Amino acid sequence: MNPTFSLRKAQPEDGTDFSELFLISAPFFVELFKDDTKRVLKNLFVSPRNLFSFEHVDFAEIDGQIAGMILSYSWETHRREYLRTGRLLFKVLGFKMLRIFRVLLRLNAELGKLAENDYYISNLAVYPKFRGIGIGKLLMEKAEGNAMKIGSRRLILETEESNTVALSLYRKLGFEVVEKFQAKLSKDHILNFCRMIKPLA
Ligand SMILES: CC(C)(COP(=O)(O)OP(=O)(O)OC[C@H]1O[C@@H](n2cnc3c(N)ncnc32)[C@H](O)[C@@H]1OP(=O)(O)O)[C@@H](O)C(=O)NCCC(=O)NCCS
Repeated sequence: MNPTFSLRKAQPEDGTDFSELFLISAPFFVELFKDDTKRVLKNLFVSPRNLFSFEHVDFAEIDGQIAGMILSYSWETHRREYLRTGRLLFKVLGFKMLRIFRVLLRLNAELGKLAENDYYISNLAVYPKFRGIGIGKLLMEKAEGNAMKIGSRRLILETEESNTVALSLYRKLGFEVVEKFQAKLSKDHILNFCRMIKPLA
């Protein structure tokens, strides 16, 4: 029998899958938040009105089991929730925030640059055993549907230049690379990103 794919909005109880999938999509977060990584992600995920909240996550399931997730939101959500996300991070990390503050500022200056009416695909990941059967594409189409519903004009995302699988998926879905840039995580670790855009009709 063919497996049944379905999509659903995330709930606050989904924090474990969210943080695992988030780290598959952005492993460099561990370098930033170290032992606090999962605690940070879970705390932000259960809280409303921040850029890592369950409110902005869709899951794909196969036969009722979570297979992948997408975190996406509009430029307006970004504008409204950016500061609260910073405040929540400070609340969770306390003075440890001082250690990473400069790196966070550097990353924020490069990642997620949005113009009015843009819609941002922040993170996409599929568990390895469910890859290659269309889940990534399904989640991207869901985010695109969310964007269309609110009248967004462009989809925006960033991916590491070395991530050829993701680049191939995004190109197939109509995205084009518009810019390449670097983000410095530490003196030994520089991330090379591509910014990709898809205009919406
Ligand atoms: C990128 C990722 C989400 C793709 O998910 P997926 O469910 O395997 O993708 P799909 O099955 O929907 O494949 C869609 C397209 O992606 C590309 N693709 C998928 N797997 C590929 C592979 N192994 N090699 C090359 N291209 C591949 C193809 O263009 C494919 O289209 P096709 O099947 O018509 O050829 C998944 O590999 C993943 O979670 N990777 C780790 C996290 C990550 O890199 N996230 C993106 C960060 S920006």
